[in-house]
Amino acid sequence: MAPMAEHKKVQVLHGPNLNMLGKREPAIYGMETLEAIDTDLQQRGANMAIAVSCFQSNHEGDLVEKIQDCADGCDGLIINPAAFTHTSIAIRDALLLLAIPVIEVHLSNIYKREAFRHHSMIAGAATGQITGLGPMGYRLALDALAGLMNKKTGT
Ligand code: DQA
Repeated sequence: MAPMAEHKKVQVLHGPNLNMLGKREPAIYGMETLEAIDTDLQQRGANMAIAVSCFQSNHEGDLVEKIQDCADGCDGLIINPAAFTHTSIAIRDALLLLAIPVIEVHLSNIYKREAFRHHSMIAGAATGQITGLGPMGYRLALDALAGLMNKKTGT
């Protein structure tokens, strides 16, 4: 097996209330727990020589700091900012620090829901967005990053 030094590094960030997946509005967010999503991403990453680190916080500043840390040492970022998607200039500004591909993921289709969810503060700072595909969205985001990181482009 290739040594870890050759692995690409992907950070996965989950925003507020996503720690409650499985219990939280299952008709919208499904029954899969965050732990199951993260474990699956880490296993899929290992098969692609990608080291996947996962972090969830209910606090905006914690997410900003993790994004800042990513500026030094990450090759790609997947972020579901949850409710901060619609409010956080601080998370958007932190993402603009990065010169790596960033995929914004939402479990639900934010454009089919309440009007206040239709605007993402994050989208303009992301390489791409996946919305409405449930946990599969994270898996597709990892596949997308695998391709983008190999191209060595943040666009
Ligand atoms: C979400 C959509 C947001 O509007 C909401 O606040 C969330 C989850 C999603 O994954 O569908 O917490 O980001």
